[in-house]
Amino acid sequence: MESFVVTTSYNPSHEQITIAKELAKKLNAKYVNRRHLSDYRKREKIDFYYVVESNGRIVIRWDSGELFFHPSVAKIRMKNLRNGGRDYLIEALNLDGNEIVLDATFGLGTEAILIAAFLPRGKVIGIEKSVHIYTVVSDGMKRYKPKQKWIEEALKRIELVHADMKKFIREAKDSSYDIVYCDPMFENPKYESSSMNPLRPFASYDTIDETDIEHMIRIARKRVVLKAHEKDSLFERIRVDRIMGSRKSGVLYGVIDKR
Ligand SMILES: C[S@@+](CC[C@H](N)C(=O)[O-])C[C@H]1O[C@@H](n2cnc3c(N)ncnc32)[C@H](O)[C@@H]1O
Repeated sequence: MESFVVTTSYNPSHEQITIAKELAKKLNAKYVNRRHLSDYRKREKIDFYYVVESNGRIVIRWDSGELFFHPSVAKIRMKNLRNGGRDYLIEALNLDGNEIVLDATFGLGTEAILIAAFLPRGKVIGIEKSVHIYTVVSDGMKRYKPKQKWIEEALKRIELVHADMKKFIREAKDSSYDIVYCDPMFENPKYESSSMNPLRPFASYDTIDETDIEHMIRIARKRVVLKAHEKDSLFERIRVDRIMGSRKSGVLYGVIDKR
C-alpha cells in the first residue's frame, strides 16, 4: 500500500484545494483534481487516495475501506466504565491524574483519549510511526468537534508525534515520563475488532524486544504497561510483574513496576 494521490471531494472550495495541494506537497504525492480521479486510476495504479472533505477533514480511501479519525470505541469504553464496568487498561495504568503518559503506539488514539480523560492535571504524548495514520489522526483530532465535554477536554491533553518509538525511547532521558504504554499490533489479529481493521493496511508491525523494554523502564518513573493478545508471544518473551485482562476478549495488559 504505497502508491497514492491526494484529491478532494467533488465540487471543492478553494480552501479544500489549497489544503489538498499542501498535503500532497508534504507527502511528496501528486494532487489529482477529483473530476479526473477515475480517468487517472484507469491509467495509473494507485493503492489508495487521500480525500480532503468539504469540512477540511482528511480521510484515506481505497477500494474496500476508509481510514478516518473517530473516537467511537473510546466512547463505548467510557460508557462501560460509567455504568460500573471494568476497563483493564485504566486499572493497569493506576493513574493519580497528574501523570505524563507516553503512548508509544498511538494508532487511532482510542486508548489515548480514554487515558487522557483520567488525567485532569496530566497529559498523553503519543508516538505513531506510520505517516498515513499520523496524518489522518493528527488532523482528525484537531478538527473533531465532540459533543461530549470529556472528549473535548481529553483531546486538549494529547500531543501526537510522528516518529519511530524505538528511536524515540532510546533518545529520551531517564525518568522523563511517568508511565509508558505500548500496544503493538497483535501477532494474532482480532479481525472482529472492526475499529482496528481500517488501520491494518497502514500500520507498522514492529515487535517489541527486550532492549525496547529496558528503555521503556529507563524512561518511566512509575511503570510500563504493555498490551498483547493471549495467543501472542509478548508475555512469554518479556517478564512482567502482573497481567490483567479479560479471558473472554483475550486482550491482556502486562504491568512492569518501576523499582
Ligand atoms: C494496535 S495499534 C494501537 C492502537 C491504539 N492503542 C488505539 O487505541 O487506537 C498499534 C499502532 O502502533 C503503531 N506502531 C507500530 N510500531 C511502531 C513504532 N515502532 N513506533 C511508533 N508507532 C508504531 C502502528 O502503526 C499502529 O498504528
